[in-house]
Amino acid sequence: MDLKQFITIVEDWPKPGIKFKDITTLMDNGPAYKYATDQIVEYASKRQIDLVVGPEARGFIIGCPVAYSLGVGFAPVRKEGKLPRETIKVQYGLEYGKDVLTIHKDAIKPGQRVLITDDLLATGGTIDATIKLVEGLGGVVAGIAFLIELSYLDGRNKLDGYDILTLMKY
Ligand code: PRP
Repeated sequence: MDLKQFITIVEDWPKPGIKFKDITTLMDNGPAYKYATDQIVEYASKRQIDLVVGPEARGFIIGCPVAYSLGVGFAPVRKEGKLPRETIKVQYGLEYGKDVLTIHKDAIKPGQRVLITDDLLATGGTIDATIKLVEGLGGVVAGIAFLIELSYLDGRNKLDGYDILTLMKY
């Protein structure tokens, strides 16, 4: 299936000059969402995944159905102030801004093999921070899966050495 046909390009959003890749038109199409999820599940099933971890908000949309299908848990990475118990945190640079990501301290057991999921690899800042959180708790990043990679931003370079799947490239 050609998944790009389900992505809507929105010109000048959220800022002039940005061609936003809207995934909602993929997610609200049952066969397309299932196909994309199944591609990631197939990738993950070869990597002995114990837990899926994804950053808010769109990392949840990708990661939760994958975790369900694999029969493993999902641990959310959230912006500061959202998780109710003890967390560890990492500051990161966004494509347009700066923020802090957090994860519950007990979300990952040392040695667990983690699949990280998100919708989009842009600069790689979000997933670089997510990797630091996972590894900070002793997890092993066994794979990273995205729907979309913006190749021209070279986020893949920032994640050098990690095993990455992207379903669409722009
Ligand atoms: C977007 C996107 C990725 C990230 C990619 O999330 O969903 O998580 O940016 O950019 P990067 O590779 O340059 O880090 P955003 O931070 O806008 O959060 P949201 O999903 O909660 O809207």
